[in-house]
Amino acid sequence: MRDPVYLDYNATTPLDGRVLEAMLPYLKEHFGNPSSATHAYGWSAEAAVEAAREELAAAIGASPEEIFFTSGATEADNWALFGTLGPGDRLVTSPTEHEAILESALALARRGVEVVLLPVDRHGVVSPDALREALGEGAALVSIMLANNETGTVNPVRELAEVAHEHMVPFHTDAAQALGKLPLDVGVLGVDMMSLSAHKCCGPKGVGALYIRRRPRRVHPAPLLYGGGQERGLRSGTLNVPGIAGFGRAATLAAESLPGEAERMRDLRDLLWRELSGRVPDMLLNGDPERRLPNTLNVSFSGVAASDLLAELTAVAASSGSACASSDPGPSHVLLAMGLGEERARSSIRLSLGRFTTREDVLRAAEDIVRAVGTLRTLSG
Ligand SMILES: Cc1ncc(COP(=O)(O)O)c(C=O)c1O
Repeated sequence: MRDPVYLDYNATTPLDGRVLEAMLPYLKEHFGNPSSATHAYGWSAEAAVEAAREELAAAIGASPEEIFFTSGATEADNWALFGTLGPGDRLVTSPTEHEAILESALALARRGVEVVLLPVDRHGVVSPDALREALGEGAALVSIMLANNETGTVNPVRELAEVAHEHMVPFHTDAAQALGKLPLDVGVLGVDMMSLSAHKCCGPKGVGALYIRRRPRRVHPAPLLYGGGQERGLRSGTLNVPGIAGFGRAATLAAESLPGEAERMRDLRDLLWRELSGRVPDMLLNGDPERRLPNTLNVSFSGVAASDLLAELTAVAASSGSACASSDPGPSHVLLAMGLGEERARSSIRLSLGRFTTREDVLRAAEDIVRAVGTLRTLSG
């Protein structure tokens, strides 16, 4: 039997072979600790980390000193929030954020931080006006994601950051889903902090970064991890050298392949939509039809529970939303926040494509989804 078509790129991506090549030397002969300043093993590891820092910085329009490597976007999100907020502070964020933000906000609320969740429209977009209104009462930090992992909806981050700055409030964005799918330039976006993750763009798992703007420097997040003082004293712990080397390469490849790759993914995603909508009645798109990641298609099949559909599919690997929460059978918090009813939220699946998805994959996946929805509707009808 053939492997199912992988349409869960927003959960994680396969490692690009070129990324693996960049990592291998640091898993083998160049195994040194980049903090070892007294010998060549340490120097070559350090050189790899600094080269990757330059690559990542170039991919997002930052300077290398603004990049701090972490264990992933979860850590970067936690750091951005816990490092800047304390009792009595006000955090303004949105209800469609990833759990890495929402659960951090919840934990901070228990420590006396006031958390304000902005409303989103029915496509999941946060409006600059809603932010302006919330900032009338001031805040210590605004955190709004760039692109949603479940629906692909893209927020107007540049405008939102401008509103925050009009009120002298620093702005953080979780851009874990954006690298390799959207043009990503911190100068254009104007954000003060940005979370990134390597495994969302054909890099390795367990490595990410927090970008912290230097000029003007509006935030000085305190460390989350204390110890040997790596990452200029702000993030202690021996660096994941092979992971970081892979992240640098993955970021360069992602940046180089845009915009052609975004267009290719959008064409395939739209082909999938046409194949399905032409053959399956009562299918609805979730998320913004226009302001959306080019690889993401979140759809509801009315009367069909997503959990049943995912189990019925034999040729497609997909999910009903965030991978972190997919053992939880509850409806997506993102879709509920968009005002979609519980029934619709429970009948939604996320199909996310990527670098290695082909036209043949899309046609094979569409065939299986059409069959599975038909089978389930016949059974329940
Ligand atoms: C929007 C968003 N933020 C944060 C994360 C967490 O990233 P990581 O797996 O690198 O911790 C993910 C992915 O799971 C994500 O999609």
